Amino acid sequence: MEYIDLRSDTVTKPTPEMREAMAEAEVGDDVYRDDPTVNRLEALAAAMLGKEASLFVPSGTMGNLLALLVHCQRGDEVIVGNQSHIYLNEAGGMSALGGIQPCAVPNQKDGTLSLDDILASIRSVDVHHPITRLVCLENTQNICGGIPLTAQYTRQVGELVHQNGLLLHIDGARIFNAAVAQNVSVRELVDPADSVMFCLSKGLASPIGSMLVGTDKFIMRARHLRKMLGGGMRQVGILAAAGIISLEKMVNRLADDHARAKKLADGLRTVKGLVVDNGSPYSNMVYLNLADDVNIDSKQICEKIGPMGLLLDAENSCRFRLVTHYWIDDIAVERTVAAFREVLR
Ligand SMILES: Cc1ncc(COP(=O)(O)O)c(C=O)c1O
Repeated sequence: MEYIDLRSDTVTKPTPEMREAMAEAEVGDDVYRDDPTVNRLEALAAAMLGKEASLFVPSGTMGNLLALLVHCQRGDEVIVGNQSHIYLNEAGGMSALGGIQPCAVPNQKDGTLSLDDILASIRSVDVHHPITRLVCLENTQNICGGIPLTAQYTRQVGELVHQNGLLLHIDGARIFNAAVAQNVSVRELVDPADSVMFCLSKGLASPIGSMLVGTDKFIMRARHLRKMLGGGMRQVGILAAAGIISLEKMVNRLADDHARAKKLADGLRTVKGLVVDNGSPYSNMVYLNLADDVNIDSKQICEKIGPMGLLLDAENSCRFRLVTHYWIDDIAVERTVAAFREVLR
């Protein structure tokens, strides 16, 4: 059965154009820097983000980890959101592999970290204290609703961070969603950052891969550490070919995913028993709860709706996140609303 898969934008399969480009990609040994397709992708990503250099990595998690490992020494502290992917969902890599300690500050409802909280979390120089080295922002902020952070806010954080001798990393897994949702250039959104990770394998529909972006010196060190982590890949132009299509052809169409998320949210708001979050969606994610008087839980709904051709992600017993992407069309949106209506009848 062809499922309507709303669990995440990570489920996107490559487009027919990507499969063709992958089959025909010119390749070489990328550890020797011999793969022309990877070199082209890395140059393109750096240029699009307005940074000196970039590095193709197997996953967003590895990209974020490399940034932390390059920026920090063992025993350093990193200020992160308590709802951030780096803090919650990257298997504690910074501590396990980098000896780096997270200082988690609350994400506000709008996905930001308050400037006061950041400032208050910076350690004073004291023999007892770890050294605060880095602040990480996430844009779009996934758990806070897929909400985009503004260029103005990011600039303010950048100023605060740099005035205090720290560095700024952006987990921009969905930075192009943030740019498209706000109709601003991605360059403007990442301008204050010392490093950025973004994913090709989410809304941009590549099968695998993320990009780490920063200065030449930062990327040179990250390339070394990528090898150390076992992420040096060989004829990986096969994947980079899809990544180039992601960047050249799939960015502007993210607006379609956002429009469909809006249509989905509007439809679900008419279904008795569902309470869509106020303001949702902000990009390609719709967050909703089951109403208090509904007598089945989200797991049971997933079980009932599965045979109707839908795959859903339950966040907890009464909460869902539904994510639109390249393979979700208008008919899929209508079928999803109808399926929820049927299950909650
Ligand atoms: C905000 C955010 N950052 C980083 C990642 C990690 O990406 P990957 O799954 O490629 O490791 C994800 C994955 O969903 C994410 O949502």
